[in-house]
Order: sequence, then C-alpha cells, then structure tokens
Amino acid sequence: MTQTLTLIRPDDWHLHLRDGAMLQAVLPETTRHFARAIVMPNLVPPVVTMADAEAYKARIAAATPQGADFTPLMTLYLTENTDPDDLAKAYASGLISAVKLYPAGATTNSASGVADFDKVRPVLERMAEIGCPLCVHGEVTDRDIDIFDREAVFIDRVLDPIRKSVPELKVVMEHITTKNGVDYVKANPERLGATITVQHLMLDRNDMLVGGMRPHYYCLPILKRREHREALVSAATSGDSRFFLGTDSAPHPTHAKEAECCAAGCFTAPVALACLAHTFEEANALDKLEGFTSLHGPAFYGLPANQDTLTLTKSDEAVVFPKDVRTAEATVTVFDPGFPVFWSVPT
Ligand code: NCD
Ligand code: ZN
Ligand code: ZN
Repeated sequence: MTQTLTLIRPDDWHLHLRDGAMLQAVLPETTRHFARAIVMPNLVPPVVTMADAEAYKARIAAATPQGADFTPLMTLYLTENTDPDDLAKAYASGLISAVKLYPAGATTNSASGVADFDKVRPVLERMAEIGCPLCVHGEVTDRDIDIFDREAVFIDRVLDPIRKSVPELKVVMEHITTKNGVDYVKANPERLGATITVQHLMLDRNDMLVGGMRPHYYCLPILKRREHREALVSAATSGDSRFFLGTDSAPHPTHAKEAECCAAGCFTAPVALACLAHTFEEANALDKLEGFTSLHGPAFYGLPANQDTLTLTKSDEAVVFPKDVRTAEATVTVFDPGFPVFWSVPT
C-alpha cells in the first residue's frame, strides 16, 4: 500500500545555486520542490554589493523554469569592506533577506571572507539596528585547530563574543554539525536559529571514511562522529522551532569531487525531501517534518508560510533516484545516502 505525506510547501534556508551553466542545470532541482530559498553569495567573484545581488537575482529569474513558482531570497557576502549604507539600502528595499559571514578560507570560495572580526563590527551593529539576520559559516580556520573541532572552537572564540558584543543581532548558525552547536542554540533562545543539512542528519564520518574515502560525502563543516549526528537528529525532530532545514545543496562538477583534492559540498537538492522523510520516519517523527521543512524557517525570517502543499509518497520498493544532473560541460553527482530510501516526491 502506498503511504502519502502532505506538507505545506517547503523552503530551503541555505542553498548554493552557482551561476551560468551550473545555475541552469541545478535550479530546476530546487524549484520542483521548494517555494523559496536563501541563496548563498559565494560566487567567484562573490556577491558583495546591492548591485551584485540585483544582477544575480535577475540571472536566477532568467534561469527559472517556466511556470515554476519560486522566490530566491538573496544574500550579501560580508567582507571587511562591506558598506553599511549599501547593505541597509538592499535590506530596506526587500532585495536581500540576510548577510553571510564566511571566515576567510573556511570553505569553498571564501577567500574574500572576514579575517579580522573587529573590522566588521560597525556593519554588524547596523544590521542589528535594521533587523537584518547574519547567516554564519561557523568554523575557525587556524591550522592549529583540528578540522573536527573547528565548529566547537568557533562557537567559543568567535560566535559567542560577537553575540555578546552585538546582542540585538539576529544570527543563523548555518549547517550545524555538532552537539555543541545544538546545545548552544538551546542555551541561547534569543535571536538565534540554526539550519541543518540532509547529509549531517543521515551520515557520520564513518560513512565517509571507512572502507574507502567517499568524496561525494565530503563537505564543510565535515561530517562528525555518530553522537553528533544523533544530537542533530533529535534537534531536527524535536519540534523546536529554532532548528530548520537548510540543505546546503552545493553542486560541484563530478570531476572536481572525484579528484586528488576534492571540492567540498554535497549536491542534495534533488533528493533532500525524500531523504528527510526517511530520516524523520526512522526517528518516529514524521509529524515533525512539516515544522522543520516549512514552518520554522519562515517564522524565524518573519515571513508567512507557503500556501500550497507538496505530497510525498512511500512505496514498497526502494526509489531509484537519478545518478547525476548534466550541465553543458559536466555532470554533477546527486547525493546518495548509501542505503535504500522508499519515499519520493512524485513528478
Ligand atoms: C559549500 C560550497 O560548495 O559552496 N560547500 C560545503 O561543503 N558546504 C560552501 C559552504 O556552505 O560552506
Ligand atoms: Zn558553509
Ligand atoms: Zn553552504
């Protein structure tokens, strides 16, 4: 018997769409399921000004499939030279929904990010004043700090001091991957939320490293040990509205993933909702899925929930998902959790 699950249409609160041929190829995979997405600004060069965001939004609109009802929620990439007036104008006009902080060198295309956090304090103060949220890639980049500890150390050394010095600032801890991240959100109820990805709910570092290294599971922040995954699953399935979906779907050409120095990012957009239904069902929490995918994010960002719905179905046989998506120049491998998934969104 086929089981169905109808949700208020989901949004994706952390998404990489890229540009050019890649944008063209991956955007339909998001618009098929999601009504809105917070679009990451880490293009090369990054989206740093209001004019950059306007132009990028127009390129996304031009690449949106005919008939798709999709709103990209734009962001600016915070640099040490960000102009607070330009930012405030972009936010007041409704063009941008948030500003993104990348510590310099922390992840894919983050070279223009922030090295000296004191330099951006005036911008953060302005953001607090106007109510513009700060989305944070929360990892330190010091060579001395082990990659598996970088999120926990960032919380102590960077995030908590920023929040104490600009207490009115609204912050989203993007793609949290540790129990430390979950605990920090729970202990700080004011103006703080966190997104969680599909891969961090489904996999731990053993899945990536035991029996051979699997480049398609390599993303940043890196997958952690199992107890951290369990903390993320309990946060996501708890119904706590401070935790919501940000897939961090991050497409890279397959040749850049299957390489001597593998690019960081998992391309999950096509399978994200099917995978989440699987994960929430396993946790006996299918009734909490709608909050995570469709209600908590809009509430945090002060937006209404979507008005239409999306229905998932569960079949007796494992679903066969497409292996990859093609751009004009390359293929992009679709995330595969490595075990059977029975849920899908019928087309
Ligand atoms: C993202 C990308 O490829 O742009 N990669 C990733 O591993 N998550 C960047 C990011 O979100 O940190
Ligand atoms: Zn990131
Ligand atoms: Zn990301």
